[in-house]
Amino acid sequence: QASRYEAESAVCDGTVDSNHSGFSGTGFCNPPNQSGTGVQFTVNAASAGTVALGFKYANGSSTSRPASLSVNGTVVQTNVPFESNAAWSNWTVKNVTVSLKAGANTIRLAGTTSAGLANIDLLDVAKGGTSLPSSF
Ligand code: GCU
Ligand code: CA
Repeated sequence: QASRYEAESAVCDGTVDSNHSGFSGTGFCNPPNQSGTGVQFTVNAASAGTVALGFKYANGSSTSRPASLSVNGTVVQTNVPFESNAAWSNWTVKNVTVSLKAGANTIRLAGTTSAGLANIDLLDVAKGGTSLPSSF
């Protein structure tokens, strides 16, 4: 059972757009094409422990848009690949496992290249180390 956090309700460094179909909710975050920018979610955990994160993203460019992943201000992964999925209306789930503390946690993705981050539609969070299914 996952909890869903929509990017339009998160802190998006760019614009919340709706011009590519297949998104959930009212839009997706389109971060600027610039290193260090991205999206930040606040996730609530009932207890401390490992969770699976599932970022639903679109990358219609031809190259991967790698990101650093921070939890509560600390970089926990320096290079999460967000591979091309060929069209901005194609959406894929990228799974990552992290540890959360009990209560509110900030989860930030920031692009590490001048292309910036992929378009991000939402974050699913599931308790335990198992990966979320890549479906939505
Ligand atoms: C296009 C696309 C945007 C995307 C951007 C990018 O402009 O319409 O949704 O964010 O490319 O390269 O980041
Ligand atoms: Ca963009």
